Amino acid sequence: MPAIFATAPGKIILFGEHAVVYNRPAIAVPVTQVHATSTVSADPRAPSGRVAINAPQINLSANLDELPEGDPIATAIRLTRQALGLTRLPACQIRITSTIPVASGLGSGAAVTVALVRTLSSFLGRPLPDEVVSSIAYEVEVIHHGTPSGIDNTVITYGLPVYFRRDRPLQSFQVAEPFTLLIADTGIRSPTSRTVGDVRRKWQAEPAHYEGIFDEIAAIAEQARAAIEKAQPGALGPLMDANHTLLQRLDVSSPELDHLVGTARAGGSLGAKLSGGGRGGNMIALVEPGKAAQVASALRQAGAVGVIQTLVGSQ
Ligand code: PMV
Repeated sequence: MPAIFATAPGKIILFGEHAVVYNRPAIAVPVTQVHATSTVSADPRAPSGRVAINAPQINLSANLDELPEGDPIATAIRLTRQALGLTRLPACQIRITSTIPVASGLGSGAAVTVALVRTLSSFLGRPLPDEVVSSIAYEVEVIHHGTPSGIDNTVITYGLPVYFRRDRPLQSFQVAEPFTLLIADTGIRSPTSRTVGDVRRKWQAEPAHYEGIFDEIAAIAEQARAAIEKAQPGALGPLMDANHTLLQRLDVSSPELDHLVGTARAGGSLGAKLSGGGRGGNMIALVEPGKAAQVASALRQAGAVGVIQTLVGSQ
């Protein structure tokens, strides 16, 4: 059997994070500049059934049966095996690498799962359909996040711009005119489960107040989708600024995120906001292509540990 490999992109949420957990819409796009890669090859010399896993970025080099219960990679492998109705796997070697920064809102966990499920099921001769790949990635996200909305696994599995609402069928949408984003990393690793949990406690204490904020975020996400479809990407700048203010009111921003957002705006970006769970991870800034280098340099000087430039809608 030849080695099989697959990649899966990163993703970024453009609008609607946190509110999406409460059944409001969110918009996310794949980020193809970063990706996870999985390779599976037969290991005919290994004892029957031995699955060796090597994932250098997370210092993992172990056999499958040595991984603890609930390990995300072991869970992805088990769910793939079960989806195919198999009780055991042939001896093989799995190698996983990724250029997606971890725990920073770029979907590294979901991308690893999607790449792994695709390669393993193809290696076993029965590539799983996208719906199954996405639902396995969702179950693994539950381990990372607790109560994920499902947006990460969806956008990464389908590799398309996604307008997402919980428990509604997948909707993609057209990016009528590509636009340039900078994605700047604060370097602070912030678990999404923590900010999602904090927002939940606030919402439980004052539901009407927080439902109002979620409604305002939802209205922004709807306007943003319309602007993207109508080739008016410039309109996204003020919407990003307004969405960031609402995320501050949810208390999921941080001084570092606010500093990068302020730096982008002062440096000539058309609008900026945090992206993802918040309190760390990444922010995004909408820029005219001619100003991208200048704003990226200002962001680095302001402390960003990495800046990715992406053209949304070019895929
Ligand atoms: O931190 P990320 O990019 O994985 O995104 C989290 C987005 C939230 O809306 C905060 C949570 C969720 O599950 O949708």
